[in-house]
Amino acid sequence: MPSEFHRIRRLPPYVFAEVNTAKARARAGGEDIIDLGMGNPDSATPPHIVAKLVEAVQDPRTHRYSTSKGIAGLRRALAAYYRRRFDVALDPESEVIATLGSKEGLANLAAAITSPGDTILVPNPSYPIHQFGFIIAGAAVRSIPATPDEEMLRALDRAVRHSGPKPTALIVNFPSNPTAYLAELDFYREIVAFARQHEIFVMSDLAYAEIYFGDRAPPSILQVPGAKEIAVEFTSLSKTYSMPGWRMGFAAGNARLITALARMKSYLDYGAFTPIQVAATAALNGPQDCVAEMRALYRERRDVLVRGLRSAGWDVPSPEGSMFAWAPIPPRFAALGSLEFSKQLLARAKVAVAPGIGFGEHGEGFVRIALVENTHRLRQAVRNIRHFLAADNAGPAEPQLAEVAR
Ligand SMILES: Cc1ncc(COP(=O)(O)O)c(C=O)c1O
Repeated sequence: MPSEFHRIRRLPPYVFAEVNTAKARARAGGEDIIDLGMGNPDSATPPHIVAKLVEAVQDPRTHRYSTSKGIAGLRRALAAYYRRRFDVALDPESEVIATLGSKEGLANLAAAITSPGDTILVPNPSYPIHQFGFIIAGAAVRSIPATPDEEMLRALDRAVRHSGPKPTALIVNFPSNPTAYLAELDFYREIVAFARQHEIFVMSDLAYAEIYFGDRAPPSILQVPGAKEIAVEFTSLSKTYSMPGWRMGFAAGNARLITALARMKSYLDYGAFTPIQVAATAALNGPQDCVAEMRALYRERRDVLVRGLRSAGWDVPSPEGSMFAWAPIPPRFAALGSLEFSKQLLARAKVAVAPGIGFGEHGEGFVRIALVENTHRLRQAVRNIRHFLAADNAGPAEPQLAEVAR
């Protein structure tokens, strides 16, 4: 028997697990930890969506197996959203599929299209499934910069010239988790031109399509003419309607990729519970003021957090989208690295954040702070961090606290 399974060997223990364990231990010891670690939306799902679920579940016909690619009304609702929001036409039959959250879709599409040894281009740092979906599928990942600019484009150019075998797919994710970077449509034009020229598939993760704070809403890569020849895009209800636990997402775009994902899923699942799909349809087709309210909520939190941290002497860039601040470790603590700094924040400021190294080696030097507690708690977090940063002996954690942080 193998001492470790081949696939499991390729999945390093989740770096976040270390901070999570320390957090759980601190809480068990009675500490009040302000948890800005995981990107887990804390607001309730809007009541009209919950009401639709309750109504649908009363009908026993909804208790049967559903369909793995999603009920037709839901796929039509997603196509209508793309029409309304991006002026993009999608055929709900061949160009849209519902997924059990976008994470499931990303992983299963990776499995569907990958041959062992394929080269895949993934930004670093990035949301872990972007690379690990392909690693699980047996691909080799080549890291590219995470900035939507010339640097990424130059890296793509080098990648096609120097990778063997030639890359088959590229991931993009804007607004980005963890960096909160946004991309312009012009950038997507360059990506689409490049991918078409080199016959590379593009998987765009647009999970934060509706979480933005400036005047311009994030574009979709599918707005670029010809994008459907090579691209699929993943969207999600998790953040837009605060439905993370419902597990409802979508892939839309290139019909060949959608068909491949549909085939894969037809072997793996029967789709989300039908009442969830009915409620998801109501979310997309119903009143959208709840989405504007969600944006306003995250924006207010962003302002409280960023202003507070800046006034405490921590110069954190203000994110223009997503639900994260991507914060460079203050210079005085930089030598600690992101994991140790996160542990110290937990032990000494009672604030949990995600260490940048958990998103890839180029995430080192940063921590990701999620806007998932209310403004009252964020102010408390800022006060705690202010004291931590101001402490004279801001060196290693005190022994008993170091124990908590281990
Ligand atoms: C960039 C990004 N993509 C996908 C997901 C997964 O979302 P879902 O709940 O739709 O699986 C997340 C969740 O945090 C995310 O940050």
